[in-house]
Amino acid sequence: AYVVTEACIKCKYTDCVEVCPVDCFREGPNFLAIDPDECIDCSLCVAECPVGAIYPEDDLPKDQAAFIKLNAELAKNWPSIVNRVDPLPDHADWAAVKDKLQYLER
Ligand code: SF4
Ligand code: F3S
Repeated sequence: AYVVTEACIKCKYTDCVEVCPVDCFREGPNFLAIDPDECIDCSLCVAECPVGAIYPEDDLPKDQAAFIKLNAELAKNWPSIVNRVDPLPDHADWAAVKDKLQYLER
């Protein structure tokens, strides 16, 4: 499955959701998760994300490994999102910030 990583936190551009053929994105307060049981590995969402937050599970940067479990877990609790919405208000300030996991809201 494809995995949403740290770069999404506090940005949440949502461009990714519009192209997913199986509607497997789930929306939390400041992050999106991909439901790994529904993702068909089409890769279409990768190019849509302005901050490059989406990776295939088997090509994930080492420091993002925790996001495999996180996507699976959060996707089960969050509602589906299929239409693009406005990014979070401070998205531009957070786009280049590292170590955002501490800000993840559930
Ligand atoms: Fe959806 Fe394809 Fe992205 Fe998986 S890889 S989340 S199926 S757009
Ligand atoms: Fe997040 Fe990028 Fe989608 S910031 S909401 S993964 S477009």
